[in-house]
Amino acid sequence: MSQERHEIDRRQFVGKGVRVAGAAAVLPLAASVGVSAAPPAGKRRLVLVGTGSRGSSTWGKALMETHAEQVELVGLCDINRKRAEYAREYIGLDLPVYHSGDFEKMIRDTGPDAVLVTTTDCFHSDYVVAALELGCDAISEKPLATETEQCRAILEAERRSGRRVLTTFNARHGAVSEEIKKVLMSGELGRIISAEFHEYLDVDHGASYFRRWHGKKRFSGSLLVHKASHHFDQMNWWLEAEPAEVHAFGGVEFYGGNGSFRSRRCRGCPFQERCDFYWDITQSQRYMDLYVNCESEDGYFRDGCVWDNAIDTYDAMTVGVRYGNGTLLNYSLNAYMPYEGQSIAFNGEKGRLDVRIFDRQPWEVDGAGHLRVTRIFGDTRTWTVQRGTGGHGGADEKLKDSLFAPDRSDPLGQRAGSREGVLSSLIGIAARTSIETGERVKIHDLVEIPPAWPA
Ligand SMILES: NC(=O)c1ccc[n+]([C@@H]2O[C@H](COP(=O)([O-])OP(=O)(O)OC[C@H]3O[C@@H](n4cnc5c(N)ncnc54)[C@H](O)[C@@H]3O)[C@@H](O)[C@H]2O)c1
Repeated sequence: MSQERHEIDRRQFVGKGVRVAGAAAVLPLAASVGVSAAPPAGKRRLVLVGTGSRGSSTWGKALMETHAEQVELVGLCDINRKRAEYAREYIGLDLPVYHSGDFEKMIRDTGPDAVLVTTTDCFHSDYVVAALELGCDAISEKPLATETEQCRAILEAERRSGRRVLTTFNARHGAVSEEIKKVLMSGELGRIISAEFHEYLDVDHGASYFRRWHGKKRFSGSLLVHKASHHFDQMNWWLEAEPAEVHAFGGVEFYGGNGSFRSRRCRGCPFQERCDFYWDITQSQRYMDLYVNCESEDGYFRDGCVWDNAIDTYDAMTVGVRYGNGTLLNYSLNAYMPYEGQSIAFNGEKGRLDVRIFDRQPWEVDGAGHLRVTRIFGDTRTWTVQRGTGGHGGADEKLKDSLFAPDRSDPLGQRAGSREGVLSSLIGIAARTSIETGERVKIHDLVEIPPAWPA
């Protein structure tokens, strides 16, 4: 990947003066706008920054197919002009295309209500802050931020601007996720004393992170931020609790320098015959259009080598979290598993909820969740929740409804703002810091979290 070119562009972008110099972390943070309010009525004008896979599909083409009555896309922006032009063609609308250096010009030309941020993770906060300062709302993909300072800058810019930040935590909207929330809200387990969340990423999905920018911590914040931000947010939301303290262990134990041979990318690799992880990107026309045909702009290889010595994103990690209300969380993520799935549990004073989800397994219905409640000195019941249809088991559509359908109520409290985005990112940032320093990390030592938003 041409990392230097990404970083140069970031300096140019920040140097455009879109951000207010020295604003971050000076003023005390305070609650400003709520997330529980329904989205504003009327058609919303949106611009999209980051026209890669997620941006051009979920927040581009698919959004226009299902929500064109609620939203209008009015501009596209990317560091890679070729990719943005391809995205315009793919979305099928005659939209103006801007280079990332012209972000401010795009906002002035197109006058959007909100900016959809779907760039590489480490740039989300730059665009969120810039959007707010230019008078727009910001709707950001997870993770909202990858660094502590970014969390502070977002909270401060939102407070100062009076505009609103929404974080698109689609995982909250999955059928199994909602079922877990309902069991916990029913109170049948009593006070939750501890919880477990184990994420298994297989050698297909898991390996894909190490082929891409995600394998470098400075872009993704590590999988503790990029991937686990979903899981930490779900836990915060399920438990209705805030993290207080984190400690973690982790390492690069399987990918990266652990291989016995390596190349720059799969195309042209002399080890194709020997490598279990050889992946032929030329088999996908979409990936050829989106990435290979755009390499001349930024030198980014989508089929990078999983054995790259520069990979520093951990592939094995375990995290302990103590919540402010005393609940203890035991979390792990392994990205080289023979199968894909999740194992989640809640240990309450009246009983335990076990949840097991398998993805893409020959012996299992895709994404089905198996749940069991066992009451202490009592009975047990089991049931299965099937995955919905559509992107991420229907979660993407439900998320879009919650963002853009003005009459949708929010009985499970699924809308997430800056506060939820920051709290989830901070667990991952604290875990990464703990691995790097060997110390326990207190969340409030990283960022002064504003009080909960008023309902
Ligand atoms: N919620 C989900 O289920 C889900 C799923 C996939 C991806 N995502 C999120 O979507 C985001 C994009 O992921 P992706 O898979 O589409 O990655 P991608 O690599 O396909 O796309 C990233 C895009 O950002 C652009 N970009 C990089 N730096 C930029 C900069 N400084 N300014 C403007 N554009 C820049 C790249 O050129 C690229 O087009 C990530 O934050 C990821 O976490 C979320």
